[in-house]
Amino acid sequence: MEQRKQVLSCIQPTGHMHFGNYFGAIKNWVQLQNDYDCIYGVVDYHAMTMPYQAKKLRENTWELIFNLIATGIQPDNLFIQSLVPEHAELSWIFNCFTSYGHLGRMTQFKDKSAQNKDKGDGGFISAGLYTYPVLQAADILIYRADYVPVGKDQEQHLELTRDIAQRFNHQIGKEYFVLPEPLFTEVPKVMSLADPTRKMSKSAGEKHYVNVFAEEARIRKQVRSAVTDTGEATEGMSEGIANLFRLLKASECHEAHDSLVQDYQSGALKYVDLKEAVANGLVALNEQFRSARAELNANKKEVKNQVKASSAEIRKRAQETIKQVKDLAGLLNVRF
Ligand code: TRP
Repeated sequence: MEQRKQVLSCIQPTGHMHFGNYFGAIKNWVQLQNDYDCIYGVVDYHAMTMPYQAKKLRENTWELIFNLIATGIQPDNLFIQSLVPEHAELSWIFNCFTSYGHLGRMTQFKDKSAQNKDKGDGGFISAGLYTYPVLQAADILIYRADYVPVGKDQEQHLELTRDIAQRFNHQIGKEYFVLPEPLFTEVPKVMSLADPTRKMSKSAGEKHYVNVFAEEARIRKQVRSAVTDTGEATEGMSEGIANLFRLLKASECHEAHDSLVQDYQSGALKYVDLKEAVANGLVALNEQFRSARAELNANKKEVKNQVKASSAEIRKRAQETIKQVKDLAGLLNVRF
């Protein structure tokens, strides 16, 4: 059988998983597992680039691991970044193959450092925030990923990754690293229900996101109070209504979706009916995920051990790469 292509992606451990995360990324990750050799990382080293609390970080890391498994990621495909410290080692080596000027052009750095300026810690901006795309390049290249499923906001980081790989290959005179390609799968644009002009996101505040694992009543309430009549109109439809239709489709409620679209077109659509259908769609997923999560919670210790073991297994691949890279780069290797 032909070797399956390698897919790799990573996610930062932040508190809650919301439907924007799920429909925008995780659902796609789950599906890719059918056709590719997939590795997914919870990247806690990355989460240190913005102000954070140590205890909270570790909690969030495990929380996200449990949530990823509950939503359909296979535990064997998961690793925790700090359990594979070779990422940090490769990142140092890559720092020396990265153009300082190129890093300065990263728009995410500009956005995030602007965020830090206004709040917390006297406007502290760490060098880690600046060099973070180098660590991301290490995450990707250490597993020789062919494809990296990411959003458009990560395109620049993927270009930098390819740049680093090329510079390394050029300098050592060998096509050692595979040049990874981003995988931009079509995903729905999920907006905040409270303000459909902005993306559903955690940073905007509690009312702006719907937690995938929330109580059913809370989800229904949030959908019921969704803003429908403000927001830029897209082809005659307000952004709020368009968002609800997208959520319905994303929840795979295709029959309800098509019949409500017809109602909309004939002018007979009642917003309460649309909201009811969306709530039902989200709650159906929510029930499935919550029951999976409850089962995992009953076996916390085993689940943690399983992910520690899969991280150790994945680490072997990282160690193989780092050994070769050190050889190629003129460094010495510790003999185990
Ligand atoms: N930078 C990504 C984000 O902010 C997360 C990330 C870290 C990542 N390492 C990665 C994504 C490697 C893809 C591949 O969302």
